[in-house]
Amino acid sequence: MSENTDVLDQAKAVLKRNDQKSFTIPAEGLYPHQWLWDSCFIAIGLRHIDIDRAQTELKSLIRGQWSNGMLPHMIFDSSHWYNQDSSIWRSHLSLYAPDDVNTSGITQPPVLAEAVVKIGEQLSLAERRTWYQQMYPSLLAYHQWLFHERDPKGDGLVIQLHPYETGLDSTPPWIDQLNKHYMPWWASLLKATKLDTVVNLFRRDTRTVPPGQRMDNLHALLYYDVIRKLRDRHYDIDKILAKSDFVIADLTFNSIFIRANQHLMDIAKLIHRDLPETLTAKIKLSHNSFEELWDAYSSQYYSRNLPTNKLIKEPSIAALMPLYAGNITKERAKQLVADLGDEKQFATKYPVPSVPLNSKYFDPQRYWQGPLWLNTNWLIIDGLKRYGYDKHAAIIQQKSIDVVARHSSYEYFNPQDSSPAGAKNFSWTAALVIDLILDKTK
Ligand code: GLC
Repeated sequence: MSENTDVLDQAKAVLKRNDQKSFTIPAEGLYPHQWLWDSCFIAIGLRHIDIDRAQTELKSLIRGQWSNGMLPHMIFDSSHWYNQDSSIWRSHLSLYAPDDVNTSGITQPPVLAEAVVKIGEQLSLAERRTWYQQMYPSLLAYHQWLFHERDPKGDGLVIQLHPYETGLDSTPPWIDQLNKHYMPWWASLLKATKLDTVVNLFRRDTRTVPPGQRMDNLHALLYYDVIRKLRDRHYDIDKILAKSDFVIADLTFNSIFIRANQHLMDIAKLIHRDLPETLTAKIKLSHNSFEELWDAYSSQYYSRNLPTNKLIKEPSIAALMPLYAGNITKERAKQLVADLGDEKQFATKYPVPSVPLNSKYFDPQRYWQGPLWLNTNWLIIDGLKRYGYDKHAAIIQQKSIDVVARHSSYEYFNPQDSSPAGAKNFSWTAALVIDLILDKTK
């Protein structure tokens, strides 16, 4: 694709600029550490440039793995002056956290199995087996931890404890639940007195990016408060669940986990390992339980609140993620594709908006409340192809490439006029545009 030479060069330069030798930061200044799902998406792009470096990107995630199997959503760069960021988390309060690496105390969507398989696609069979053997123990431990610790209901759907765990930080279903179930007295006071603006002094993101493109101060404070509670309970799941009223089985996370478990089974098969029976039973169960997230009345899938067991009927891009999960029926997939093509919902000039147009939250510039992101587009394109919607996938793919070609690798883009927003030189945008151009299977 010679017409894509410029965008490829630009994207490669971004990855080079953010390269820290063994891992890649998402963006200078705003995101100076290693993030779990960022590194997975980055590796998916890097595999086209330097396969060894792509493997190193994923292996470097394992250094942060907790002894209970959790892969933390952030690994802090302790050599850096941003080191104080890790003090919010104080992960060493958990017995399971590694001694020599500072990490956060929560996880992020389990895209690792996908990234391992994508790297495997570039390798010969013998090399692929070696690669899978290297990654299998950590992957297995991670998936087992998810089922063991995050499935309190026992139906195979896993819960998340903080919006950061979904990767879609300020996505409306979580903001909605936060507003309904998590408003400490001081938050209402701050809101009433407008003192929350003081928080701007402490926020790095609103100094780097216009505040209108980020989450508001009140919610930023509440997010911090949820971390504080998790930390005060030393990241002990029993203590957390004993009191928490803010626990959600998130639709995006579970869709990715369903797919990741398919990958894990394929990986195990290729290296002749038998997955533990308890794990295969849970995987099967999760497939059946997934349908409980379907709401027949509105013909949509939603996230589910754990304490109340109710679906959170607040629309967002998560509604399309079951296409990526790949376990839904063709009939359901058809419905989701109709939503994708609906001009009141997801059919913007530059798809796919992170919130449908008819949502009260829709804001084309604000973080996960409207803009299009390359990673969610990548997941949707993958899902559409698997259900045979190649033409739909090709349109989103081409528009994603066009947007980056026009504006370079920004963090996110306005889905109506394509104007760029968020951080500049954002790594997963660069990596995934490379993959969208070069992956021959796409
Ligand atoms: C933002 C995104 C999150 C990402 C992180 C680092 O917080 O919401 O998904 O992992 O930035 O890029």
